Amino acid sequence: MCGIVGYVGEVGLGERSVEVLLGGLKRLEYRGYDSAGVAVIDADGRLDSRKKAGKLKMLIDDLEATPLVDGRTGIGHTRWATHGGPTDSNAHPHLADDGRLALIHNGIIENFSELKAELVSEGVEFQSETDSEVAAHLVARAYRAGGGDLAEALRMVVNTLHGAFTLLVVHADQPGLVVGARRNSPLVVGLGDGENFMGSDVAAFIAHTRRAMSIGQDQLVSIRPDSVEVVDFEGRPVETTEFEVDWDASAADKGGWSSFMAKEISEEPEAVANTLLGRAVDGAVTLTDLDGVREQLLTVDRVIVIACGTAAYAGILGKYAIEQWARIPVEVELAHEFRYRDPVLDARTLVVSISQSGETMDTLMAVKYAREQGAQVLSICNTQGSTIPRESDAVIYTHAGPEVAVASTKAFVAQGTALFLLGLHLATLRGTLTAEQIAEQVTDLQAIPEKITRVLESSDRIRTLAGWMADTRSVLFLGRHVGYPIALEGALKLKELAYIHAEGFAAGELKHGPIALIEPGQIVFVIVPSPRDPRSLHPKVVSNIQEIRARGARVIAIAEEGDAAVLPFADEVLHIPLAAPLFESLLAVVPLHIFGMELAAAKGLDVDQPRNLAKSVTVE
Ligand code: G6P
Repeated sequence: MCGIVGYVGEVGLGERSVEVLLGGLKRLEYRGYDSAGVAVIDADGRLDSRKKAGKLKMLIDDLEATPLVDGRTGIGHTRWATHGGPTDSNAHPHLADDGRLALIHNGIIENFSELKAELVSEGVEFQSETDSEVAAHLVARAYRAGGGDLAEALRMVVNTLHGAFTLLVVHADQPGLVVGARRNSPLVVGLGDGENFMGSDVAAFIAHTRRAMSIGQDQLVSIRPDSVEVVDFEGRPVETTEFEVDWDASAADKGGWSSFMAKEISEEPEAVANTLLGRAVDGAVTLTDLDGVREQLLTVDRVIVIACGTAAYAGILGKYAIEQWARIPVEVELAHEFRYRDPVLDARTLVVSISQSGETMDTLMAVKYAREQGAQVLSICNTQGSTIPRESDAVIYTHAGPEVAVASTKAFVAQGTALFLLGLHLATLRGTLTAEQIAEQVTDLQAIPEKITRVLESSDRIRTLAGWMADTRSVLFLGRHVGYPIALEGALKLKELAYIHAEGFAAGELKHGPIALIEPGQIVFVIVPSPRDPRSLHPKVVSNIQEIRARGARVIAIAEEGDAAVLPFADEVLHIPLAAPLFESLLAVVPLHIFGMELAAAKGLDVDQPRNLAKSVTVE
């Protein structure tokens, strides 16, 4: 949810902490954008801070008008409000110790009321309504009591906190030191030359270094210009591992596009191609990522896919593929429902978690729960150094590149691709498809990126359609088989981006309820299966179109090129190239991503940062 950045640099690098912090916050703004703030310590041990409600721009403008003292040590925060509204005083950093200590927090401190009551009874005056401020006062007290050891003070305090938190703290007495701690919230360290960084994710420091180190659960890290020290919450030193980020700062920029979302949709072909790279070779699928769990994959008798949001819709594609190809029963479940319903799991259950960010709290907790119950956990994730892969038995990274727009687009097609690869891998291991059948699928899958590029070429038409519909109040989406999750995804994008009431339905369910919603003028998108579909679903969906058309609906069909049967009944047809039945989903979703974005743009909305939403939901 919130974005966090920390910085320390050596003397020779100059007094530039404000610039580094603001640069990091700009790249993290997608994590939270209702307020932002920074705190900096200068060489003379003065702590200066500024925080502002509103988007980061408000803070930047304010700092330009009245600059802060600058230095070589600082922390910055961009907020997504949980406790306390988005006001200047609730923005982070929170100060304590007569303004000599500053703290930022991502997460929720669940026992903050008790802690706050205690502090208030001892005379502490709170400046905000946040849970986070409690931690600032507690660390300041521990610091004073412990004789000025900031890391030790933070360590004492985190052991009294319940809930989820990443905390970063600086103290005016300690220029050249930032201390961070994490439990159930993300924190990554960036390793520079004479400078070190902390961030909620690597985007915070990618402009300065690609060398990074992830910080584990219940660990505490102290960064100085020339050292990084990690201990656990008991104070014991922890061994750390570095990794190299496989994308650079330019990948995290808009690159001339009007929005990150426009750029990310344009990258959908690449997201699929890069996810296939090295894994679909010579007509076979090789997932070396899964070598360590080969034996388990041979014996699992059930798969449960867990995810939230768009990732859960990608999961339904995985269900259809794995059941069809590998003949293993698959359930797909929202992570937050899964973990609280006492699911029956054992060593023969494969739990597949899907998460772009690798930090979604409910998905992470479901992963932990599944492993505690003895299930094998395989994760599909797009973010190196994130938490879910660390907590899993195996991971398939999607290589979609950084996704900055809050609503997920290119990650969806990459997740679908990874699931198709997994399905083919399982079918190979278990011998449920012949080598020829696998080769045929691999060839079809490899053609998808180029076919998505062709769909992208029809963007102008979709933009025009969206322009006509800017006043629309409700849109329905119908699909069957893999068209069903695509209908759900199309509806979700419209809700998220354009704030329009939208629902996705399985087309077969139409007569069981949704048809009652059809009245003259109702817009319905229909994802039409290929006329070549072996299940003969095409005529059934064409009948659905006729049924809703007869009741006055305006139908926009997404249909295969050359599908003449749809033309007489649809008001508009968006064509997609021919593909194998399962892979049509990766094509049909593209016009819907474009449509959601264009409709939001036609309404003058911010497509990258829709109201109330956060890119990665790291609290429950
Ligand atoms: C948030 C985002 C969605 C995303 C979902 C799951 O709700 O706004 O776009 O699909 O989280 O995120 P994850 O990072 O776990 O894929």
